[in-house]
This record gives sequence, C-alpha cells and structure tokens, in this order.
Amino acid sequence: MRKPLFGAFEGKPDRGDHRASSYFLDPGTLIDQYIIERPLAGGGFSSVYLARQLADQMQVAIKEYLPRRLAHRTENQEVAPNNEESRRSFLRGRQLFLEEAKVLTRLKHRNIVEVLNFFQANATVYLVMTFEYGKVLGEYLLKEKKGGVSEQFLLMVFPALLDGVRMIHENGLLHLDIKPHNILIRSGGDPLLLDFGASQPYPYSERARVGKVLSNGFSPIEQYDLEGVLGPWSDLYAIGATMRMCLDGSFPPPAPERTERDSLIPAVKAFKRRYSPILLETIDWAMEIQPEQRPRSVAAFLAALAAAASPSEMSAMPGA
Ligand SMILES: Nc1ncnc2c1ncn2[C@@H]1O[C@H](COP(=O)(O)OP(=O)(O)OP(=O)(O)O)[C@@H](O)[C@H]1O
Ligand SMILES: [Mg+2]
Repeated sequence: MRKPLFGAFEGKPDRGDHRASSYFLDPGTLIDQYIIERPLAGGGFSSVYLARQLADQMQVAIKEYLPRRLAHRTENQEVAPNNEESRRSFLRGRQLFLEEAKVLTRLKHRNIVEVLNFFQANATVYLVMTFEYGKVLGEYLLKEKKGGVSEQFLLMVFPALLDGVRMIHENGLLHLDIKPHNILIRSGGDPLLLDFGASQPYPYSERARVGKVLSNGFSPIEQYDLEGVLGPWSDLYAIGATMRMCLDGSFPPPAPERTERDSLIPAVKAFKRRYSPILLETIDWAMEIQPEQRPRSVAAFLAALAAAASPSEMSAMPGA
C-alpha cells in the first residue's frame, strides 16, 4: 500500500543512519530560481515543499523525486541511491518522473494541478506547481466529516473532477492513483486532482507497467495484476471508491479482498433513502469488481451522474 500522507514529517532518517542527512531540504535553501520555505508533505516517493519564486515572490509547491525505499540525501544535499541494487530502479524512476513532468506542463485544466516548470538539481528532478490552498479530501473525510457528505457536495466535486480526468485521458494518460488523499478541495468546493506519480500512457506503450503503485481500497483489481488491462475504467473504479469513502467515511475494502469475498454492501442498499438512487447506482457501477462491468469512459460516467443531478431526480430525494 502507498504510504499515507499522515506521516508527513516522519521522513527523517533514524538516528543510527549516518548515510543520510534529512529527507527534506532546509528552509531558506536556494534551488534553481526558487527558495524553499518549508516542507508540505512527503513520505513515499517524494518530498513536497512550499517555496517562493525569486523573480516575483510568487508561492509555488515543489515536488522533489526522493523515493524513500531507494534513495537518501547525502551531506552535500544530493539524492543518491541507497545501494547498488537500488541504483537501476532509482535511475529509471527518476527518468519517468522527468518524462511525466514534461507531459504535465502541457496539461492545463482548472481541476488538475498545474505544473509550471521542472528542473534537475541535486542529482534528482524537481517539479514546480502552482501552490493551491485547500483541504485534502482524505483528511477532511477522516477528521472532520466522518463520511456522510451531502449529495450537493458530491455533485459539486465529482463532475468537475471528472471533467479534468477526461482531459487527462484525452491526452493519452491514465492517472492510476485517484484517491481522497490526492484531491484538494478549494474553498467553495472546487476540486483539484494532485499527484501524477503513478500515471501511465494509455493506450499501452513501452513505458507502461514499470513501478507499480497501489493504493488499497482505491486501486482496481486489474492494477494488482501485471497482465491486467488498464484503461479509463481503472480510474473510474478509483473515483467510485473515492465517492464511496465520502459516504462511508472509511476506506473501501481492497479490490483483491472483494474478489475473494465481497463484503461491500452496494451503496444503493447501504445508503438507501439518504441519497438519490441514481447517484448510488452510479457509484456502484464504477465500483464493479470486473472492469468490463464498469463504465468504459468518463463521458459515460458523467452522463449517469448528470441524471442524478437532474431536477426530477433531486425532487425524489427525501426532504427535497
Ligand atoms: N500544488 C500543490 N499545492 C498545495 N499543496 C500541495 C500541492 N501539491 C502537493 N501538495 C500537498 O502535498 C501533498 C503530497 O503531494 P502529492 O500527493 O503530489 O505527493 P506524494 O503523495 O508525496 O506523492 P508520492 O506518493 O508520489 O510520494 C498533498 O496531499 C498536498 O497536501
Ligand atoms: Mg499523494
């Protein structure tokens, strides 16, 4: 499972570990045309900082490629592989991070994190993003809401998010790590999809299938299988699971567990009379275990959601 973000600052090496200084650059560090202000997050594959652009003092978020399993920071700030065995994977991952950065600078959508720039320094790669204010949906659900968000919230967040995901698919990419901890909700409810660390080209290309990333509860069954056929339906499972967590307030069961014995009560049953039936059916549709049974495209899923948002459906809601 991918490292949750709650361990944001636990990236410091053990006291006994003399190889590494810190996983985070110090505040005040000057790098390329930016000055580091403070760490924002980090743990699995990267360290994320709040920084300022020297030219105009604009705040940016900078993501540094630093996979904890493979690499550490040396005394001179450089990122180096942990050992000979990690070297190949580290270099390959770094190359992919760089390629991904190049692709992302081209993608512009209000609901997709904006990559402004990327550069190489300290023997690693940095991705510069527009810094956005908001709440991480995963934290909001676990700490504040405990599930049970309103239908209105769902219909404000997800169609906008899906429109962004559609644009990603149209540009020949799958995100493959959509989950509440990779979604920022801006004030007013407009969502922003973050973290393209797992994204892969679609349809299949040479780049596919290296460095498998799994987020239990959100990754569909085909992502666990090296032979599995990934497509828009894979991102849609993750979106369905993300919506389901908005209802339940807890992590959905992992797909392999559901394949063995599905303990997940369909949303239409579990949340009957609390949300419109079409909305619940649409969530269940996206969360079908078998990929062939899910919506094939974002457009198909959005059309179903639009029906849930229609006035006649809303008036069928209790209390409407
Ligand atoms: N552009 C941004 N503006 C504001 N906060 C951001 C931005 N990008 C990232 N963050 C913060 O940093 C956290 C981690 O970012 P992200 O999910 O991209 O990296 P990550 O989970 O560490 O990636 P990986 O799993 O690949 O290591 C986010 O949950 C969010 O809190
Ligand atoms: Mg993330």
